[in-house]
Amino acid sequence: MELLAGRSGWPSILLGRAATLAPDAGIEAAEAAGAWSAWKNAVASIAPDALIASVERSGLRGRGGAGFPAGRKWRAVANADRGQRYLVANGFGADPGAHAERLLLERDPHGVLEGLALAAYAVGATEATIVVRAGSGSAAARLRAALAAAEEKGYLGSAVLGTSIRLSVTVRELAGSFVTGEETVLLRALEDRRAQPDQRPPYPATKGLWGRPTLVQNVQTLAAVPWIVTHGAEAFAATGTPDAPGTILLSLSGALGRPGIVEAPMGTTLRDLLDLAGGATGTLKALLVGGPTGGFLPAASLDLPLGYGTLTEAGALVGSGSILAVGSETSIVELATLLTRYLSDESCGKSIPCRIGLRRLAELGDGLCTGLCRPTDEALIRSLSADVRDAALCGLEAGAPNPLLSGMRYFADEFAAASAGGSAPAAAARPGVSA
Ligand SMILES: Cc1cc2nc3c(=O)[nH]c(=O)nc-3n(C[C@H](O)[C@H](O)[C@H](O)COP(=O)(O)O)c2cc1C
Repeated sequence: MELLAGRSGWPSILLGRAATLAPDAGIEAAEAAGAWSAWKNAVASIAPDALIASVERSGLRGRGGAGFPAGRKWRAVANADRGQRYLVANGFGADPGAHAERLLLERDPHGVLEGLALAAYAVGATEATIVVRAGSGSAAARLRAALAAAEEKGYLGSAVLGTSIRLSVTVRELAGSFVTGEETVLLRALEDRRAQPDQRPPYPATKGLWGRPTLVQNVQTLAAVPWIVTHGAEAFAATGTPDAPGTILLSLSGALGRPGIVEAPMGTTLRDLLDLAGGATGTLKALLVGGPTGGFLPAASLDLPLGYGTLTEAGALVGSGSILAVGSETSIVELATLLTRYLSDESCGKSIPCRIGLRRLAELGDGLCTGLCRPTDEALIRSLSADVRDAALCGLEAGAPNPLLSGMRYFADEFAAASAGGSAPAAAARPGVSA
């Protein structure tokens, strides 16, 4: 996907260097553009605790979906029991509509590695793994080349920059479904166990990889850390919004003039983002914000600013930063059903409400699309969604009802028309469905 230019004056925290470097630039060029200077500075003069305090003050929140404060997670890992600690950098990029992490790994692997080194040093992790989705173009190869160059220079390895700091880094390519990007699933996959989620708590911060304290952090979150060290926590906190400082990489796709990836400050309105992507190609009907477990927003929400609270209240998610523009010719009932079917197929099946409930939700959506439905089916979707959410073992299950629920919230007429056209047999003739 093309890298789109942001507005002039916007801070360039994540892709500033990538925009100026040749795609195959080596470590010398990256260093000339500022790479690894924050790490050298930290090794020479910043104590791990001061680094954690700085990330806490910066207000940096995780970019992998949940928006959890990074500093709080670092503190929890640093305070966990002594002994082996791990860092897992999540670059799996599970959302099929989000391409930004792959671009970041391909264009500035040194930025991710430097952020990883700073985070590992802060929490006392001596082994780190970066997970990349198998088949992600040249991301893994670029990362491995950058890693070898950084080891060669002594920035990573057994005696970092001649000190007693140790940090061994491995790149792992994993194949798997959408749910593999969820942190507990990722950890089990790294242990070569069945890729299914674990009940939390305990969180990976206290019991993660091989049962040891583990910092799981999205690669985009890590890439912001060198900037924070170089420019200061206060400078970072002054960007974006007070609730969500910094910038985010957004993948803008669908019915747009110029789909692509843009780095924008948190708080940017959806309208501004669409403008940067060339605007809607026809009449805009909706935006799917936050990926498959995100939600539909009507075209009337274009003035909504990008933020964790604002989007959740409106029924969508910041999620992995993917925004899909939906044109007026698309049926929301059909698209919501397609997404529900996708999530049902991608479910690992460990939780019974997820395994059975999502299949039933997709069947109910199919019924609305084909006319094999009853007037009570919308109410059934709502109550089944509540049950699935209540029982959720992981975020896939908790978020899977979102497409149908947000569709019913904002496009009630379309759903009502589909229900009214229903010709399903009486309830008694359909096992498992009560009126
Ligand atoms: C179904 C599902 C898929 C996920 N996929 C990803 C992913 O591809 N990359 C990622 O960083 N986080 C993903 N997450 C979120 C992770 O569980 C975790 O919160 C994140 O990696 C933590 O890093 P952060 O705090 O920097 O965001 C996913 C969550 C769910 C529920």
